[in-house]
Amino acid sequence: MPRRTSESAALFERALAVTPGGVNSPVRAFNAVGGTPRFIESARGAWLTDVDGNDYVDLVCSWGPMLLGHAHPEVQAAVQAAVARGTSYGTPTRPEVELAEEIVARAPVERVRLVSSGTEATMSAIRLARGFTGRDVVVKFAGCYHGHVDALLASAGSGLATFALPGTPGVPESATALTLVLPYNDRAAVEKVFAEHGDRIACLITEAAPGNMGVVPPEPGFNGFLAETCRQYGALFVSDEVMTGFRVTRQGQWGLDGATEGWRPDLVTFGKVMGGGFPAAAFGGRADVMHLLSPEGPVYQAGTLSGNPVATTAGLATLRLATDEVYAHLDATAEILKAAASQALSAAGVAHVVQATGTMFSVFLCDPGAGGVRDFDDAQRTDTTAYAAFFHAMLDRGVYLPPSAYEAWFVSAAHDDRAVATVVDALPHAARAAAAAQEDNPQMTRHA
Ligand SMILES: Cc1ncc(COP(=O)(O)O)c(C=O)c1O
Repeated sequence: MPRRTSESAALFERALAVTPGGVNSPVRAFNAVGGTPRFIESARGAWLTDVDGNDYVDLVCSWGPMLLGHAHPEVQAAVQAAVARGTSYGTPTRPEVELAEEIVARAPVERVRLVSSGTEATMSAIRLARGFTGRDVVVKFAGCYHGHVDALLASAGSGLATFALPGTPGVPESATALTLVLPYNDRAAVEKVFAEHGDRIACLITEAAPGNMGVVPPEPGFNGFLAETCRQYGALFVSDEVMTGFRVTRQGQWGLDGATEGWRPDLVTFGKVMGGGFPAAAFGGRADVMHLLSPEGPVYQAGTLSGNPVATTAGLATLRLATDEVYAHLDATAEILKAAASQALSAAGVAHVVQATGTMFSVFLCDPGAGGVRDFDDAQRTDTTAYAAFFHAMLDRGVYLPPSAYEAWFVSAAHDDRAVATVVDALPHAARAAAAAQEDNPQMTRHA
């Protein structure tokens, strides 16, 4: 039952005339699934309403930030009060101190610096790691995304310990010539590059639990192993919690493994949830490392809108409202949806695996074998044609999924029984649409 989309289509035409691809961030386009992006007019709780008046249960949640759901009344009231006091002063303010205190209280960081995007956070963390260690090499994992930082838009070179190639035109070879890209969850690869380049490595950066190749959890002990390897070689361990921070648990992914295993990252990056739907992000970590940042130390870093009072007010209100009960609700909701998706796909005979880290989960339409999807190579076996059919069938039934097979699905505290029922009812139709797409595309594995 395709819905009316003429207003979205008209806006998309206008957008295409003035903006590359008609969108201000590539993944918002429907290039991976086909069709016209929906232009959203408003959102409330678990629901989006598009410019044609269609409602959708939102399983994207602004790509993670909207932990409490859209237009949460208390967050809105705090933001409106902040706006009434003026929107930016270029001076220190109370809410930025309080937000930093809240982050330091929950996460494994002693000092924190606020910025405006996750990209700025990871870029600054790497600069700081290089400044602190006096070294220049950065290690990252294939399939982990850390924002559009030149040095991190890198593809693996021809061998494990060879330096990376630019991952996109516009990034000069010199920008990735100091980056090493390794397969995720591969301890032997990590040991090998540290053995060969350890004395030049400033830091290893990893998504605390990857969500940008779909959800690929770290194998038990993997993050601790990374932290220990970095320590042995005098490199810094940078845990990117932009997606997982304050979402997976109150403490982010670190709360799931670091806190119990007894290790801490040297630097951590945050974004998304801590901005409460506004452009706010942060990086933080060991006091002796953070101490090097300007104006205390020599490593330069700055931002006109960093710690903006409206953004920090939204973030602070969100974190204060994100109680244990909220995380319990997110867990329970994710459990229902994961089980329902798996059941529907099995019933339709579509090979799949559902993977989760805390409340963040993904549905891979592939048969990865017993080990599940462990790294980017595994993730790329997912059937993107079947996903496109699945996505559109869900959209037609009022469920907004990520318009890409390689993304996490997010739920919020506002996903109530009605929202969950809408998703659960749509899943069998979407699973059958995926099965039909696989009939037409028989080279993909198809069995229950
Ligand atoms: C793990 C991770 N790091 C960094 C970023 C970049 O954040 P931003 O889009 O705010 O620049 C993202 C964005 O999705 C992310 O998921």
